[in-house]
Amino acid sequence: MTILDGKKVSNDIKDEITEQVNKMKAKGEKVPHLAAIIVGNDGASLTYVGSKVRACERVGFESTLVKMSSTTSELELLDKIKELNDNPEIDGYIVQLPLPDQIDTQKVLLAVNPDKDVDGFHPANFGKMALDMTTFIPATPFGILELLERYGVETSGKHTVVIGRSHIVGRPMSILMGRKGFPGNSTVTLTHSHTKNITQITSQADIIISALGVPNFLKAEMVKDDVVIIDVGITRVADDTTAKGYRITGDVDFVNVSKKASFITPVPGGVGPMTIAMLLKNTLLACERHRKKA
Ligand code: GUN
Repeated sequence: MTILDGKKVSNDIKDEITEQVNKMKAKGEKVPHLAAIIVGNDGASLTYVGSKVRACERVGFESTLVKMSSTTSELELLDKIKELNDNPEIDGYIVQLPLPDQIDTQKVLLAVNPDKDVDGFHPANFGKMALDMTTFIPATPFGILELLERYGVETSGKHTVVIGRSHIVGRPMSILMGRKGFPGNSTVTLTHSHTKNITQITSQADIIISALGVPNFLKAEMVKDDVVIIDVGITRVADDTTAKGYRITGDVDFVNVSKKASFITPVPGGVGPMTIAMLLKNTLLACERHRKKA
């Protein structure tokens, strides 16, 4: 069994990006600049955004954090988005999800300039991804592809089962694993809350990508020998023995499933750090594309 070490690979990617940034600096070029908008005070979202900003510092990017109150109106947020769209200093930005109930997420995602949409959530970019065109691939699916590629995990002709159809992970992952090329060329089954007899499906899977958010959902009895496991779950589970009072738990019963798996991602230290590394990669790509256009 091989651990797919997202912490190590994400550090390698950050080192590669740092090298690129140093070259840009040496040539007197502007370094990539990522902005993040966060609306409200959700603890997990604040943690994620903080990690994204710290990662920018680590690779030498400029970063801007825009904090807006939980009572922000849709119009106020759309005004801020227009400001970032019009600011030539900003190469890419993200609007951290979820947004408070008074704001229509679809409307917000449509307002982001697709050339700065480093999350890859704008319908224009999502459509390009589905059509194999150059775009921004959403960071978590992009990170999973990168892990599979760097560990040389065979995906061609394999049966990949994706659990969960979220717009951020499950849906794009199901498209990407079925694309022509590597990683890809898989036969994909997308399962969700209406799927009947999921064990019958997971037990036939060569690769399982679980993005459900239910701690320890996937048990050893549900998988076959030598399965490849990608665990995208990051649920906070109360735990008084830790300083924070919680621990991060994945969708997979790691202790038992890892005994049957050929490759498996740990939680934490698997997919999570890859997401941040690929957001940086998309920001670097945005910066390079803007320079070419200028
Ligand atoms: N919320 C959970 N994951 C993500 C992500 O990848 N991007 C944004 N913007 N919000 C998220």
